[in-house]
Amino acid sequence: MKATEQLKKEHKAVKVMLLVLDKLCKRLEAGEKIDPNHLDSLIEFFRVFVDRCHHAKEENMLFVAMRKTMDPSDGDRIGALLKDHASGRNYIRDLSAATSLYKHGDPAAAGMILQSARHYMTLLIQHIDIEDNVLYPIADARLSGQKQEELLVEFDRLEEEEIGAGKHEEFHRLIDHLRGIYLS
Ligand SMILES: [Fe+2]
Ligand SMILES: [Fe+2]
Repeated sequence: MKATEQLKKEHKAVKVMLLVLDKLCKRLEAGEKIDPNHLDSLIEFFRVFVDRCHHAKEENMLFVAMRKTMDPSDGDRIGALLKDHASGRNYIRDLSAATSLYKHGDPAAAGMILQSARHYMTLLIQHIDIEDNVLYPIADARLSGQKQEELLVEFDRLEEEEIGAGKHEEFHRLIDHLRGIYLS
């Protein structure tokens, strides 16, 4: 498997969780009560699986390898993707704050959840599309098979250090659990 293939697989998992978040938002918008624990689980997924693992694999490993082989316009493209990662982090911070207010019964919280969640969903869907269809194909064209293999080894090490053994599988169980509740 190529390093970019592992990242694409992770994008698929992220997109399922974005659909779950969208469903939660629609319920909230319809005036229904939602389970804040599910929002907490999604926030943990976006912070740990997406930001600390997936984005770190890109920022510290894939993008670093790509910069060594690229022309300046490709560098600009990577710069824009890095900005998206930072914006996503801010939206999740806002979503987390809004979720705390929701738990305390603040009447403004639902609107704040909707706003930050929707900003995040729009950003990430667009971001994933650019990576899958523009950036990773460039990586596949420019990085050797050996470099892709080296990156995969680095990815494993990062996951081990960041989240430890078994946590990745735990997230996949969480995805299945929430998919069963919201998307079936
Ligand atoms: Fe990214
Ligand atoms: Fe990505």
